[in-house]
Amino acid sequence: MVSGNSPALLRVLNGERVDPPPIWIMRQAGRYLPEYRELRKRAKSFLDFCYSPAIATEAVMQPLRRFDLDAAILFSDILVVPDALGRTVSFVEGEGPRLKPLIEEEAWSFDDPVRAMQRLAPVYETVERIKSGLDPNIALIGFCGGPWTVATYMLQGEGGEKDRARLAAYVRHGDVDALLALLVEVSALHLQAQVKAGADCVQIFESWSQDLTKPLFDRLIVQPTAALVKRLRALGVTAPIIGFPRGSGAQIGRYARETGITALGVDYQTPAAFAREQAPAGMPLQGNLDPQLLVAGGAFLEQGAKHVVEAFKDAPHIFNLGHGITPQATPENVSELIRWVKGGV
Ligand code: CP3
Repeated sequence: MVSGNSPALLRVLNGERVDPPPIWIMRQAGRYLPEYRELRKRAKSFLDFCYSPAIATEAVMQPLRRFDLDAAILFSDILVVPDALGRTVSFVEGEGPRLKPLIEEEAWSFDDPVRAMQRLAPVYETVERIKSGLDPNIALIGFCGGPWTVATYMLQGEGGEKDRARLAAYVRHGDVDALLALLVEVSALHLQAQVKAGADCVQIFESWSQDLTKPLFDRLIVQPTAALVKRLRALGVTAPIIGFPRGSGAQIGRYARETGITALGVDYQTPAAFAREQAPAGMPLQGNLDPQLLVAGGAFLEQGAKHVVEAFKDAPHIFNLGHGITPQATPENVSELIRWVKGGV
């Protein structure tokens, strides 16, 4: 139930316009915070960090102690899902995630979803711990990666140019569709478990929606996301779902209208007015400050923040960046930003 006493972020997700808009920051726990860098040393690897409820909970709380944020987000990663499916993930310092590329294998096999869920148990324990200590005015966000974004890492074994993953979508059509169906199922169970453990809403990070033709965007992004939303609802999950199809450009409207998401995350390249016009009437929008402004600071940041507040003022809006905060951003700039947004710039 969303009432007048609910966290502002949940009221916006319920379709209400709240002024000033609630704010959270994608990747708000992370390397731009010195206390995060210190905490990070306590785990052997990044995934050990994600699977250690005490440390992960501490990472979630760090930005909340410094800043007047309206949401906490689970500390984990979208790649725990392939890891749990038996496609071991490692993080190479300064380079990013590495997996064994599926495209180099003839026959693909994965552990089953039930087994995967058992491996993810520490993540749900983290959600419970966060929830038990959280200010009731602060919403707790759970998340997963979009099926195609996660599949891309599994196919290529790394980020970077997505050409090989896109080629596989053609030449291994059936295998890729089966992989997406598996990711839809595990992601639905993963989100359901997060909500059961205390997440108030969830976000689907579809970070790699760019560079797709219309038929591929429909097959790899819209259909799997719609299936994920449908499966979640069939599992009895009523929590709001924020979809963030980064880089979807001119195709953002079909994503907003055809997937069943509650709210639309807008990247920083997309004009607010375009997102508004493409999304169903009244759909809450989230975004879309350029993360580089949290590095630049000063008048650039102030003007950028004002521009975003103004551009989204005609609809229910959650203030956020248009992509994750970078390690080069400063905590001081984050404080300033929140002051400007909360001051009703
Ligand atoms: O937002 C939060 O505070 C919650 C935690 C969170 C992380 N990753 C922690 C993390 C979330 C929501 C993610 C999502 C994620 N992970 C995405 C989607 C969002 C996006 O950025 O597009 C993607 C594509 C990933 C995969 C991933 N994880 C990459 C490419 C990298 C390496 C890049 C880098 O910044 O080093 C990671 C590692 C990662 N995930 C870090 C953090 C804090 C940094 C690693 C470290 O601290 O050692």
